[in-house]
Amino acid sequence: MNAPDGLADEIVLPYKPRSYFACTIHATRKRWIFVVAHRRAGKTVALANTLIKAALENPRVDPPPRYAYVGPSFDQTKDLVWAYLKHYTANIPGVRCLEGELAVVFPGGGTIRLYGGALAYERMRGIYLDGAVLDEYPLLNPRAWTSVVRPCLADYRGFAIVSGTSNGDDHFHALKLKAEDDPAWDVFDVKITDTGSEALSLEEVQEMRNDMSADEFAREMLNSFDAPVEGAYYTEALNALQLQNRVTKVAPDLNASVVTCWDLGMRHLQVVWLFQMAGRELHWIDYIEGRGKALSHYTDLLGLKAKTGGFRYKAHLLPHDVEVRELATGHSRRHELVGLLAEPVITVPNHSTEDGISAARAALGVSWFDEEATRRGLARLRSYRRGKSGVAIADEAEDAADAFRTGCVGVAMISSTNFARPGRLRRRIRGLV
Ligand SMILES: Nc1ncnc2c1ncn2[C@@H]1O[C@H](COP(=O)(O)OP(=O)(O)O)[C@@H](O)[C@H]1O
Ligand SMILES: [Mg+2]
Repeated sequence: MNAPDGLADEIVLPYKPRSYFACTIHATRKRWIFVVAHRRAGKTVALANTLIKAALENPRVDPPPRYAYVGPSFDQTKDLVWAYLKHYTANIPGVRCLEGELAVVFPGGGTIRLYGGALAYERMRGIYLDGAVLDEYPLLNPRAWTSVVRPCLADYRGFAIVSGTSNGDDHFHALKLKAEDDPAWDVFDVKITDTGSEALSLEEVQEMRNDMSADEFAREMLNSFDAPVEGAYYTEALNALQLQNRVTKVAPDLNASVVTCWDLGMRHLQVVWLFQMAGRELHWIDYIEGRGKALSHYTDLLGLKAKTGGFRYKAHLLPHDVEVRELATGHSRRHELVGLLAEPVITVPNHSTEDGISAARAALGVSWFDEEATRRGLARLRSYRRGKSGVAIADEAEDAADAFRTGCVGVAMISSTNFARPGRLRRRIRGLV
């Protein structure tokens, strides 16, 4: 590392970055960085070292470089980060750690100061900063970034890292969605499945899984922002799916046909899932949702997908309400769909929600999902949940889950000819990963 004047040429910090941070937050050149990482991934250590490196490498003398570490509370910041800062700067000649002020002063005059709690925001107003870390962002005041820290970074074009562990659908999630659409930001999502045993041993992860509720594990270790607080139907099955890396790239096998399964959007959403069967496995390759559009919109879209994807359909699975006659036309939706689709339209007989959910859980155990194309559908399956009265909440998640259920129950009604051979698909999926 190059050192500013007055320091030895080479300073070796006692920090060895974990590989998943070395190639993400330590490698990016972007000014704004968002990172969501699981508990104990080593975020705080990595962020403290980012500030130390930046402070050491900043050549400006006047005014002296200033960096801030912002945490949720004064005590927590002091207990955790202060110890890391002292440890990782101990080898730097001439460095001073001012206990009373929770500030590290570098020989060149640069400082890193810790801030925590509501009072800290008042102290930060109006100062300049060369870089800031906002750690445990879900626990910070939602306005800490925009109205306090961001203005401090304007004078010297300072950088910022917003970091945390998912805490559900909150301001941290909102900022992630915004950052994903903004090229000025780099967004990193580090799940327990990405860190291998570098952060936590397999046994430790297994124990945490036993101790935490399934939703908690989804949020805090798998970085899910969709996992609802309680009562979700498929959390266990979806966690298993993710831990086994069955959410990946799954392209359609062009030698095999595709089945669709539908929910007719009587309440909120019109939903169509697309899947292929490979032996006992189900490969979910695409997901469509919409509202307020004619059935022909969806059949056109399916036609387009088949044409661009180079695949054929085998059949379309519809829920039993497809048979209901519409008063305006005197015809059923089934009648309309038969006119629009070239392949067989199969009505899946009515079944109890409980039976359908069991079938869906069993199907999830042998399912693979294309990460990109089914992202939204999977998020909906995650948030499909039962309300206080014990029955499923009728929302968009239910529409996606109902279509999925129709597929899982209805698949038994389709003959298995012209489906993919599992070996071939497995090789294809492996080759893609
Ligand atoms: N690069 C590293 N080298 C050695 N130990 C590390 C490293 N990063 C983190 N740790 C250790 O892992 C544990 C969790 O780190 P921490 O940064 O507090 O995690 P997080 O903030 O993600 O919950 C701590 O005991 C910390 O000392
Ligand atoms: Mg931390």
